[in-house]
Amino acid sequence: MLSKKSDTQALKRTVQLLRDYSDHYDWVGVYLVRENMLVLEAWAGVEHTEHTKIPIGQGICGLAAKENSTIIVPDVRKDTRYLMCFPSTRSEIVVPVRGKMRVLGEIDIDSNKMAAFTEQDRETLERTAEIIANFLEN
Ligand code: SME
Repeated sequence: MLSKKSDTQALKRTVQLLRDYSDHYDWVGVYLVRENMLVLEAWAGVEHTEHTKIPIGQGICGLAAKENSTIIVPDVRKDTRYLMCFPSTRSEIVVPVRGKMRVLGEIDIDSNKMAAFTEQDRETLERTAEIIANFLEN
């Protein structure tokens, strides 16, 4: 799937909106699946990440895409699957963007707060991921 320029603009607005939505969303990114890779399409936060391409299956991001399930990591320092982007990150949530036939991508949020992500965050972000999926497929 090649993203259109308008998709990229919409995703940029979405990540910024999410970052502003919560004090503990310190870095918000949307990755899209291209062949066997997750490619960073839009992000909002203080720093850019080196992990702009992540193979499916690697890191928390790659695992969430492979298993098509939301992953919450309350303490990234205790999770050996975690790929470090920012030394300040303490917890992370990754939510798949599910298309009709396959995983289209995911929302990845890093927090500087330990165990920042609640069931409420999961619900909000899974609903947001549905909206992104509808948008990308229509
Ligand atoms: N921590 C992620 C990599 C992406 S950065 O958080 C932006 C992971 O473990 O897959």
